[in-house]
Amino acid sequence: MSVENGFKTVTFYIDKGGSAKTTNTFNYVKDAVSTRNIKALVIDGDRSRNLTNVFGVNGDKTIADLFKSDGEDFAIYPTSDPRIDIIVGDSDFTDEGVNIRGASSPYLVLFTWYSMNYQMLSEKYDLIVIDTHNDTSIVTSNLIAVSDIVVSVTTPDGPSFTAWRNLPEFIEKVKTKARNPFTKETVVDLKLGLIANNIIFYGNNVSAPSKEFLSLVENDEHFLGLIPNRPIFVSTLLEGKSIFELVDEMPIHKQQKYQNLLAGVRGIYAKINAMLE
Ligand SMILES: Nc1ncnc2c1ncn2[C@@H]1O[C@H](COP(=O)(O)OP(=O)(O)OP(=O)(O)O)[C@@H](O)[C@H]1O
Ligand SMILES: [Mg+2]
Repeated sequence: MSVENGFKTVTFYIDKGGSAKTTNTFNYVKDAVSTRNIKALVIDGDRSRNLTNVFGVNGDKTIADLFKSDGEDFAIYPTSDPRIDIIVGDSDFTDEGVNIRGASSPYLVLFTWYSMNYQMLSEKYDLIVIDTHNDTSIVTSNLIAVSDIVVSVTTPDGPSFTAWRNLPEFIEKVKTKARNPFTKETVVDLKLGLIANNIIFYGNNVSAPSKEFLSLVENDEHFLGLIPNRPIFVSTLLEGKSIFELVDEMPIHKQQKYQNLLAGVRGIYAKINAMLE
């Protein structure tokens, strides 16, 4: 976002379902607030509402209401984590569901909301983290338009790689559409990051398909690192606890088994944080 902000926005996005956008949104924000001692707002921009459910928040007023009212009517709810608040998701959060084409600036609804609430947001939060649906809709474009960093989470398969390759074209489109109505300049100013998730290991060896996928992405200038396939990532969404919290709760002798995994994921998140500086 090309405005000097007190807070930064990190968005997890790729136009491919089931690649761990929500898993990483959740774990990234949990890690950020605990290791950096900051406050964060999360926005559930996915109509399947998985992030809202993981935080266990029931709220009547949703991201769809914010969009339907051109940013006038919104609510921010606390989560069970006192350092994290949320704008909850909505199954109606689609272009048709919020009648986005009826908005005065369809690509700038969230950007305008940021501007109108700048003081409140910068006083309360250091970080905004957004989860998205895998599409190239106008509502999703709004989420990209306010981002300082877009992190794409891929899995080792062809459709994921295609989605990553198609991303620059979508971002160019958002840049063209999301223009300040007065200066005509784009409001989009973001950096890209790429995570290779769900990499399958047999002992210390990477499986053949995962190896092939890594050879395609690991030399990319945006590559942040790999995350192995491990059952603990399934538990994180099921139990509403980050991998860091889950390991913390284990008996000491079991924690050892996860140290490399946690260090690897923290290393990736630290690179995202470094990009924010
Ligand atoms: N590294 C991993 N190892 C094992 N399971 C994983 C890993 N990452 C994610 N998963 C699991 O894969 C599934 C999809 O993850 P997640 O819901 O985060 O993806 P998503 O991109 O948000 O999906 P959607 O497109 O449905 O929103 C979940 O069940 C999650 O627990
Ligand atoms: Mg999701």
